[in-house]
Amino acid sequence: MTAPAPSELAFIRFVSVENMMKLIHQIGIEEMMTGLVGYIEEDFRRWELFDKTPRVASHSAEGVIELMPTSDGEVYGFKYVNGHPKNTREGLQTVTAFGLLARVDTGYPVLLSEMTMLTALRTAATSAMVAKHLAPKDARTMALIGNGAQSEFQAMAMRAVCGVEHLRLYDIDRAATDKVLRNLGGLGFDVTACATPEEAIEGAQIITTCTADKQYATILTDNMVGSGVHINAIGGDCPGKTELHPDILKRSDVFVEFPPQTRIEGEIQQMPEDFAVTEMWQVLSGKAPGRTSERQITLFDGVGFAIEDFSALRYLRDRLEDSGLYQNLDIIADPDDPRDLFGMLQRAKG
Ligand SMILES: NC(=O)c1ccc[n+]([C@@H]2O[C@H](COP(=O)([O-])OP(=O)(O)OC[C@H]3O[C@@H](n4cnc5c(N)ncnc54)[C@H](O)[C@@H]3O)[C@@H](O)[C@H]2O)c1
Repeated sequence: MTAPAPSELAFIRFVSVENMMKLIHQIGIEEMMTGLVGYIEEDFRRWELFDKTPRVASHSAEGVIELMPTSDGEVYGFKYVNGHPKNTREGLQTVTAFGLLARVDTGYPVLLSEMTMLTALRTAATSAMVAKHLAPKDARTMALIGNGAQSEFQAMAMRAVCGVEHLRLYDIDRAATDKVLRNLGGLGFDVTACATPEEAIEGAQIITTCTADKQYATILTDNMVGSGVHINAIGGDCPGKTELHPDILKRSDVFVEFPPQTRIEGEIQQMPEDFAVTEMWQVLSGKAPGRTSERQITLFDGVGFAIEDFSALRYLRDRLEDSGLYQNLDIIADPDDPRDLFGMLQRAKG
């Protein structure tokens, strides 16, 4: 007896790393960044209807493994992601991820995707979306401190969305900076490799910090930051893992994703519980102002929130249909008679 073929509902779309890379090239990185920004903005504007919770973190001495769930009432999504700063020394990625979308009405999953690539894109798209609303309008120069896996994506998104053309790079490991120089060579940026973080931020209107270190690091000190800049701080995203001296936070207007999560994980973990922050969704919905003066220091204390992953998966779902860049994965046991799961197993006996 041959086992009956799985029903149509058994299959969900699966996007492998290979297909994700093909899709990114098919769409074009910068067009995809712009598209993702649109989806993230749309979801930030309907922020209030989402289920929201700080991500569920499992910490170890070496790193963290996190689950990031949310739902808009029709679609549910979650991402699995890790953060292990010591991994690169062992030839492994600091951050890897995959994620899933499901229907809320039946609970059936509909899409499973790699999200290591997609996280780099969504993180950069979120940074660029925030900079679009907070950075000085004439910002063309960005300091990029920390030249690891996220860095080129940050550059591409900031150009696509905010018009950044000049990059000033710094990393404690010169090999990382050389990698960025190689990767961005020929892509039309004006790139300068710098010997110190002080040199990197000279003349920069946007300062991006995306370093990885499992400690309270001080990538920027207070005296380094002049008025009028926008700081995009994305590397401090775990308890005990920050990038900025607390004095910078006192002089800046700090913008965050979801305060209950950012107070645990972000730069503001160094500040008292009642330290004033503005939620980015309020800026998007016109409920709070963004940049209000030329001299103001705006600071995005980005830790990465579940809704951004949800937006990215939604974008992916919508772009998949025409691309054909997916496989069908037989992942849901769906017997004809829903109560006959055991019978389905028996009929599959070889
Ligand atoms: N906010 C978010 O949504 C989000 C998303 C993804 C990753 N992250 C975080 O961003 C950071 C970067 O991620 P990645 O995947 O690029 O990591 P990575 O390990 O690939 O790169 C980090 C780089 O930082 C450099 N570095 C470490 N300490 C430094 C210092 N003191 N000064 C200058 N450079 C220094 C390292 O040499 C390395 O090249 C990580 O901390 C990660 O957890 C945040």
